[in-house]
Amino acid sequence: MGRMAKERADFLVIANRLPVDRVVHPDGSISWRKSPGGLVTALEPVMKLRGGAWIGWHGASDEDLSEFEHDGLRLVPVPLSESEVEEYYEGFSNATLWPLYHDVVVTPEYHREWWDAYVRVNLRFATKAAELAAENAVVWVQDYQLQLVPQMLREMRPDLRIGFFLHIPFPPKELFQQLPWRRQILEGLLGADLVGFQMPGGAQNFTQLVRQRVGHRTARDTVFLPDGRVVLARAYPISIDAAGFEQLSRTPEVIARAQEIRDSLGNPRHVMIGIDRLDYTKGLPQRLRAFGELISDGTIDVDDAVFVQVATPSRERVMQYRKLRDDINQLVGRINGDVGRIGQQPIQYLHASFPREEMAAMYRAADVMVVTPLRDGMNLVAKEYVATRWDDRGALVLSEFAGAAAELKQAFKVNPHDINGMKSVMLEAMRSNAVDLRKRMRALRKQVMENDIDKWADCFLTDLASVGESGQSGSDD
Ligand code: F6P
Repeated sequence: MGRMAKERADFLVIANRLPVDRVVHPDGSISWRKSPGGLVTALEPVMKLRGGAWIGWHGASDEDLSEFEHDGLRLVPVPLSESEVEEYYEGFSNATLWPLYHDVVVTPEYHREWWDAYVRVNLRFATKAAELAAENAVVWVQDYQLQLVPQMLREMRPDLRIGFFLHIPFPPKELFQQLPWRRQILEGLLGADLVGFQMPGGAQNFTQLVRQRVGHRTARDTVFLPDGRVVLARAYPISIDAAGFEQLSRTPEVIARAQEIRDSLGNPRHVMIGIDRLDYTKGLPQRLRAFGELISDGTIDVDDAVFVQVATPSRERVMQYRKLRDDINQLVGRINGDVGRIGQQPIQYLHASFPREEMAAMYRAADVMVVTPLRDGMNLVAKEYVATRWDDRGALVLSEFAGAAAELKQAFKVNPHDINGMKSVMLEAMRSNAVDLRKRMRALRKQVMENDIDKWADCFLTDLASVGESGQSGSDD
């Protein structure tokens, strides 16, 4: 460990969280388990090949851990105090930026102490990266929690090649302008050579704001800084480890478990499923209401359909998340109370997280997957469902407001604000004939299997390596 601590890395990932979760065993001993996300799956080979390291918070407060290795990955924990967890993570990241960037679906809160903590913590991440990065290393900064890091890092280490990727939507200027620290955030991001977004619209919102608020010249996806440096802003729709997911869903264990799930639901004609983090952006109340009404108005029989809703606990100390949890408990109770029968609860609600194997079995058990966010950067659950449907069966109901809707064109599209519209599309998905469903699923699968997380990472890193080389000139937009 001592030897490794001195080694500098040629490739660095900086994210709010490390890609591992701590597991405490019954005997009190501790180990780490790789988190299920696709990002680490995609970056692992690059990290191993290039002697990389991952800088991130390990998830607990007031604890300073030394760097460690897990499964061949070099992990560098960044400590956060209890008040930083409250002000930087729960506060500025998740009660200011998160709602602001998701079309203010709840009202963002602006507090100066939260901003101060955000600056302080971003500086800590940047300082750690500056210490660790080898000469001319590539550094890839992830997501909204760390938007000041690119500029801070560039000031400390101008030799580095810096990329930034935003996993959530980047809002239009009418909303972004609410932010009292809007200029600092834009300048923070401009420290990168390449700023990646999920959608072309996000990249355009960014360049427009840079032009209007910071006053730099821009041409299409290029920003020209006064010192001669250029910054590219482009879209890279993120994906999943599609082959890995498909492979998992083909194992006999997962196939058997999927059947077991259907059996335990009473083998109804239609099994519908929703799997989301318990977040107010995901449109959970809307979809549950739509499903409940289909039963209460007699369109579908309570014996014919079950909706399994998995809500993974998330950000539980943030007020809006607690409120949502209570609201959903109440709504599920009301619908099941109103339309259920003895032994027949139409909504099966699970507030828990599950391992990948169980998720794959749930996807395989579902005839219809329902994904209805009010706003979502991408939505990987929709892509995971598609990856597990190797028999070309099943239907995907997908919100127009998820980034994934641009790629998953053959999904059954819904506007989650329109309950009646959602009811009829859910019904259409349930009642479509096998030929139509197969045609749609085949096209969806082609899209997901061909555009996986490896391709995403390759595209981003290839572009990052070439920024400023040629062709980035032009006239003002
Ligand atoms: O991109 C959305 C995101 O905030 C990621 O940065 C994060 O890994 C994930 O959602 C889960 O959120 P959290 O880290 O707040 O639990």
